[in-house]
Amino acid sequence: MAIVAPRPQLPQIPSFIQACATYQPGKPIEELERELGIQDIIKLASNENPLGPSPKALQAITAGLKNLHLYPDASHYRLRAALAAKFSVDQEEVMVGNGSEELFSLLIRSYCREGDNTVGCGAAFLAYRVCSQVHGAEYREPPLTRDPEQEIMAMLQLIDARTRIVFLPNPNNPTGTYLNRTLLKKVLDHLKDKPVIVLLDYAYREYARAKDLPGPMEFYKDYPNLIVTGTFSKIYGLGGLRVGYGVAHPDLLLPLRKVKMPFNISSLGLEGALAALEDADHIRRSIEVNGLGMEFLEKEFRRLGLDYWPSQGNFFLVKMPSDPKPIYEQMLRAGVILRPVAGYGLKQELRISVGTMEENKRMVASLEKALRGQA
Ligand SMILES: Cc1ncc(COP(=O)(O)O)c(C=O)c1O
Repeated sequence: MAIVAPRPQLPQIPSFIQACATYQPGKPIEELERELGIQDIIKLASNENPLGPSPKALQAITAGLKNLHLYPDASHYRLRAALAAKFSVDQEEVMVGNGSEELFSLLIRSYCREGDNTVGCGAAFLAYRVCSQVHGAEYREPPLTRDPEQEIMAMLQLIDARTRIVFLPNPNNPTGTYLNRTLLKKVLDHLKDKPVIVLLDYAYREYARAKDLPGPMEFYKDYPNLIVTGTFSKIYGLGGLRVGYGVAHPDLLLPLRKVKMPFNISSLGLEGALAALEDADHIRRSIEVNGLGMEFLEKEFRRLGLDYWPSQGNFFLVKMPSDPKPIYEQMLRAGVILRPVAGYGLKQELRISVGTMEENKRMVASLEKALRGQA
């Protein structure tokens, strides 16, 4: 349909907004249904929980429907209390965001001015770049390598007097790689006495199996400039609710509390997240299904001769033998949504989330066909 609104005279857009990259999310199922008129689509593009939401969260959300006429609790009291108990911290050290992405954004808005910069590891989660640029901060990262030590040393070189935040996703998305205890400590020691905030993004921590991947709170008490973030979008299966959290010293969080919108989490979001947090059974099953899926997919990638990055998350970064675009498109026509990652500078790779075993098998069969089509 043609646009009916008359073209407005607009104030000038700041140059850093004009220059901004736009975050490209995974293709929604509904969009593919509309475009191709097909049904029975599986989405393995956004690292969501293939088991769906926690049943306890669903119950709590249903019970909360009757209160939808009321504004939500702007202090997030009960959810913060539950998270504080989980992490053995005071409630004042916990902040809840509209997804952990909101916390990244609030942190940048609170601490960065135009001309400041933020730094991430190689091919770090794109939201750090987008959030930084939107707020006029320069985003820096070293080239991605298969040697985490070399990469982290290169990252430290990028930090200067205008660096305000260092983003460390552990494990990282889209690579699935991680910083071990020794390496992370090296970074934290390097930054300990600098006026720089270190954000440890533990969105996928619950899936990780490496014994030397440090726990979320392991360094918390020794490094005051740390903020540890987590999300209800991954293992808790609540990506659609948009709830994330951060744990840090109240002084670090104070400006974020001023900047945030008062009612940034819906009442259903608060109820759902609180119930999901206590659903140990759903978390256990999610870890189990992911573990079996990872083993299966690694075996299948090897059988297909595909080079993949060993992953600690619920996804794999997989190198295609040729341009991934036609492979991605053929997979779409087969009703399987994967994730292109060219925005990360990864021009020959696709990211594949782990699904249920049935979904994994269907994805592998379609991928094999698509690869044969390209041979
Ligand atoms: C590393 C990482 N951090 C954070 C997020 C975003 O989480 P949320 O849904 O809580 O905004 C994602 C989502 O894909 C992610 O990959």
